[in-house]
Amino acid sequence: MKILVTSALPYANGEIHLGHLAGAYLSADIYVRYQRLKQRDVLHICGTDEHGVPITISAEQQKKTPQQIVDQYHGSIKKAFADFGIGFDNFSRTTLPLHYRMAQDFFTKIYNNGYIYPREIEQYFCPKCQRFLPDRYIGGTCPRCGSENAKGDQCESCGRWLEPFELVQPRCLLCGETPQRRATKHWYFKLSAFHDQLRAWIDEKKDWKDHVLQFVKGWLKEGLQDRPITRDMSWGVPVPLEDAKGKVLYVWFDAPIGYISSTMEWAENKGDPDLWKEYWQNKDTRLVHFIGKDNIVFHALIWPAMLMAYGDYVLPTYIPANQFLTLEGEKLSTSKGYAIWLPDYLKQFSADSLRYTLTRNAPETRDADFAWRDFQAWHNNELADVLGNFINRTLIFISKYYSSSVPTASSFSENDNRVLEVLHKAPDLVGERIERFEFKSALQELMRIAQEANRYFDHEEPWVTRKTNPLICERTMYVCMKIVTSLSVLLEPFLPFTAHKIKDMINFIPQQWDDISSPKVAPSIKKPGILFEKIEDNVIDVQINALKKREVTIEEFQKFALKTAKIVSAENIEGTKNLIKCVVEIGDSERQIVAGVGQHYKCEELVGKTIIIIENLKPAKIRGVASQGMLLAAIDGDNVILLTTDKPASSGASIQ
Ligand code: 2FM
Ligand code: ZN
Repeated sequence: MKILVTSALPYANGEIHLGHLAGAYLSADIYVRYQRLKQRDVLHICGTDEHGVPITISAEQQKKTPQQIVDQYHGSIKKAFADFGIGFDNFSRTTLPLHYRMAQDFFTKIYNNGYIYPREIEQYFCPKCQRFLPDRYIGGTCPRCGSENAKGDQCESCGRWLEPFELVQPRCLLCGETPQRRATKHWYFKLSAFHDQLRAWIDEKKDWKDHVLQFVKGWLKEGLQDRPITRDMSWGVPVPLEDAKGKVLYVWFDAPIGYISSTMEWAENKGDPDLWKEYWQNKDTRLVHFIGKDNIVFHALIWPAMLMAYGDYVLPTYIPANQFLTLEGEKLSTSKGYAIWLPDYLKQFSADSLRYTLTRNAPETRDADFAWRDFQAWHNNELADVLGNFINRTLIFISKYYSSSVPTASSFSENDNRVLEVLHKAPDLVGERIERFEFKSALQELMRIAQEANRYFDHEEPWVTRKTNPLICERTMYVCMKIVTSLSVLLEPFLPFTAHKIKDMINFIPQQWDDISSPKVAPSIKKPGILFEKIEDNVIDVQINALKKREVTIEEFQKFALKTAKIVSAENIEGTKNLIKCVVEIGDSERQIVAGVGQHYKCEELVGKTIIIIENLKPAKIRGVASQGMLLAAIDGDNVILLTTDKPASSGASIQ
């Protein structure tokens, strides 16, 4: 049996963040590391997805070519994965000539098999830019909520999915011109033809995650529509047809083919160019696609249908998709800068601490939240105090009282045998869970062993028996070393860096997953080092504050109506030291604002000043007094200084 594991190809359009790791890559890596320790024939395939409209938009915004963008991010993404111990047998790119050939071959064969056909449709064309506009290049007013910043595929303000023609007052986002409807030809994939075959295939998948099955069955029930798989763009894989000049394959058509071309590249690099077929064209291959929730429809319906349309290839065996990860209770958003990027994380913390947190709280079957306080608590209370502590106290004891030679024993007490029995069962107990893609509970079992080990150490009291009964003490320490040795292997899929550190300290004798139910212990150890340093509160505070001060987009900024306002009257609010009730004039209107500047300004000083206010702040009551807006001030140490204008300005002027 061969196991072919793929992880979703990330877009080469930005750094990898926490959400990516929790979505696909970490689970995939745990699974693959485990399979290797089981000595199975497993391949882990990935690469960057280098086509699609967002990449061309980034390029245009940054005045670069799409190629420059993808070159940059391919490198940094590859490095981020390596830094987190996510290991791939091959990490390819969808801009390689090999991939272009494969994607075109796929198209041609499916076309020849009768599952791709052309259709005339209308699409927006910008007369000034002389090009067809992809959905995201068209802006306009949302027909539902009236936001003027809606795009051709979605309105971010109200979340509604849109078709470009639904936009009111559409405009070209490149030049502002009003686009025109024009006829164009596109090629469609006959997804509808695969309904029954997909239904039969999915009905066999009894052991898939519920949320994946529900999603797929929901789509099948609604009926499958044929889907356009070409686009009028220049960045992408050219459509291999005579009458398709200037058209490329839709990114979601070529991306999953990247799994195959990446495997081909792996085979070529191995010097055995046909080796990929033993994985992709072999009935005994288990094909496992690790993906995030937003990729389910492509991997569980469209991609299998493409494979069916082509013939010759294996179909996915498992698609263990994860749900979403939120960050401190909010949705991650790369466009809003709300995320934790892996290179930033690594400046302060270790890869394994994040691997631990994200596995312990993996969004396996429902959405999960990453909170910095949990991260700190789990690192300190579990990694440091339970796991690190047991290993540390064992190794220090041996180095101190046995000059780093590991004692041995041949007979055991009942209590010794009880923990040895726990070890005996551990590989299967943890392994079975990993094989069922239940990484969270696998890690829980593993941590239970570490807890058990600490209890054993406490119960045996080697610091007492060392003096009262040296033989018993030796026996205890030998058992402890067996546990440490087993843990170093059990930990490897989850915390590979820590596992390697432990193995190095204990002069680990090479052993595989199944060997460690009765592990071989090396005769001596090296000088032990600390595995996990505690993380202090102030370090975490900095991270939490950084998230609060994330970047905002111009659209978010534009939501604030900042205006000049003239203070007409001001009076202290009774019973308070600092609050002043101001009446301000904003052009033709007046309103009341409560300001906390009483300790810095006298009421008479305020009257007549032109200040800056946020006009559209939700009205609030402060100490029972209505306040409609907020004035802006600089906080300079203990001083509070009101913002005014550089030159006299009339009230009601907007600030931009
Ligand atoms: O959602 C994404 O990031 C896509 N680039 C995933 C592609 S997966 C595969 F099909 F290549
Ligand atoms: Zn234009």
